[in-house]
Amino acid sequence: MCGIVGYIGTRQAAPVILDGLEKLEYRGYDSAGMAVYNGTSIEMVKAMGRLKVLFELTHGGETLPGTAGIGHTRWATHGQPSDLNSHPHMNTEGTISVVHNGIIENYIALKNKLLKKGYKFLSETDTEVIAHLLDYYYKGNPMEAIIKVMHRVEGSYAFGILFSEFPDRIFAVRKSSPLIVGQSKEGCFIASDVPAILKYTRQVCFIEDQEIVCLRRDGLKFYSVDEEEIEKEPVTIEWDTNAAEKGGYEHFMLKEIYEQPKTVFDTLNPRIRNNEVVIEELGMTDEEIRNLGKIFIVACGSAYHTGVTAKYVFEGMARIPVEVDIASEFRYRDPIIDENDWVIVISQSGETADTLAALREAHKRGSKVLGIVNVVGSSIAREADNVMYTWAGPEISVATTKAYSAQLIALYLLALKFAWVRGELSADELKAYIKDLRRLPDQIELLLGCKGRIQKFANRYIAAKDIFFIGRGIDYAISLEGSLKLKEISYVHSEAYAAGELKHGTISLIEEGTLVASVLTQESLYQKTISNIVEVKSRGAFVIAVTNEGNTEIEKAADYVVYIPQTNRYFTNSLAIIPLQLFGYYVAVGKGCDVDKPRNLAKSVTVE
Ligand code: G6P
Repeated sequence: MCGIVGYIGTRQAAPVILDGLEKLEYRGYDSAGMAVYNGTSIEMVKAMGRLKVLFELTHGGETLPGTAGIGHTRWATHGQPSDLNSHPHMNTEGTISVVHNGIIENYIALKNKLLKKGYKFLSETDTEVIAHLLDYYYKGNPMEAIIKVMHRVEGSYAFGILFSEFPDRIFAVRKSSPLIVGQSKEGCFIASDVPAILKYTRQVCFIEDQEIVCLRRDGLKFYSVDEEEIEKEPVTIEWDTNAAEKGGYEHFMLKEIYEQPKTVFDTLNPRIRNNEVVIEELGMTDEEIRNLGKIFIVACGSAYHTGVTAKYVFEGMARIPVEVDIASEFRYRDPIIDENDWVIVISQSGETADTLAALREAHKRGSKVLGIVNVVGSSIAREADNVMYTWAGPEISVATTKAYSAQLIALYLLALKFAWVRGELSADELKAYIKDLRRLPDQIELLLGCKGRIQKFANRYIAAKDIFFIGRGIDYAISLEGSLKLKEISYVHSEAYAAGELKHGTISLIEEGTLVASVLTQESLYQKTISNIVEVKSRGAFVIAVTNEGNTEIEKAADYVVYIPQTNRYFTNSLAIIPLQLFGYYVAVGKGCDVDKPRNLAKSVTVE
């Protein structure tokens, strides 16, 4: 959701910025732009549409001379996608240029004030207010103007700012929106996310909320909002640069689906030692684990779906009550959190605005927060009391696959740890669970082998209008994710339903030929869900079933069956999701959709 890249150094800035913006395409955007100091003034090019348009307008950046500039991919919030609403935005004289990620909540009041002072606005955006406000406060000292703006502005922001009177500097500042800075021998960078600059440097610093950075060709300086200088040590990013490339796959999504055996292994392996679960970063004493009252799991999107699975696993295995909440609900629902309760927030990006707000809400209520996060150094990782990283590497496709799988593993490990410490598991049971966990990467690999078959099946459904996913217990949680994967990338309407709830309304939508995908991995619930399959079949549905190897009885009820290898009842999600991911992917490919960058969606939802 909005991407920022800035560069100041010895190279021509525009090609570096374009290259970085390309790496941020995954965040979702509808327009793009750049502003570069060309030796005498700030030159700006911006256009609605894909980066390709900006690329063509500037011949890959070549026609924009200069070695200091800022760039942006915009995901429209205030004002529709258009050339004028695209960033950067400038003051009237064109001497101050700004790119912004986030939302300025009090922009109307600020705009009215500026209009009264005679400022003219060209766009409908909240960001243009910042360009004029900077102009209003600027009296020859950029830092002073930026700080005054920070005091006036409410909401979330990451800004990259260029002043033509200070062409040897770029300024950056953030509050509740992601922004990192990097440094190499060839200059300094700002970016919304690490992949944008990984090609140029691995030395990265994280900007804290309300800190200001001044970038020059030869170095960075950090300041507090009181203009006090702050010392920072860069962090070395270990990610493989190839991880952010497609590596021969048609889409990042397919590549990431195929990376899942490795991701699962990487999340699991360092935390299993001699048949014990060791989560060093957990930061909870055994005493605290034994005293745990309740766990709140809070997240958005697919991360929320892993939480729904975890509820069954934690409650079943460790006998700890769990409440799962969508972050945007949790933050406003006045939850009752007791002294011995913990909040677990789950987030791939570590920047999802609602999840971050939920974390802060939990802190306000005195609760400890454990973050399950993929992006190292992200806001959630830094604000949570303890962090368990998922080590999935960069995930580029908007629709998550490998990060989802890694989150499941992290949650299984936590459940096992809690169950063991609380005396709910014998040593033999723990050993058996660990054995099952260790088999998951190979079993996922095996399932990926069914790709051709799923593709053929998916091709029959590219014209489908509605698809329903049903399951009970953990199978319901899997259905939620299977349904989301399909709808977000293929734009086919789909709904996930707890199978037993079908009769209370949704069954009226079943017609001759409607596809119903049923998930049956919970042995104790087979018969119940089979009854639901029979009900929809008798109303004309075509039923696909995803079930455990050996459950051949299903062939009497379902029209098409995909079997998953045997594992214990708690870990089946990690396997059953693979054919469902492939199904969503191939329906989208068959329809010619932009799989990695689905319309209207963003990878990292940094606004409320
Ligand atoms: C967006 C993404 C989803 C993701 C959700 C939560 O909607 O498209 O794939 O599950 O945000 O993101 P997070 O980074 O917090 O896991």
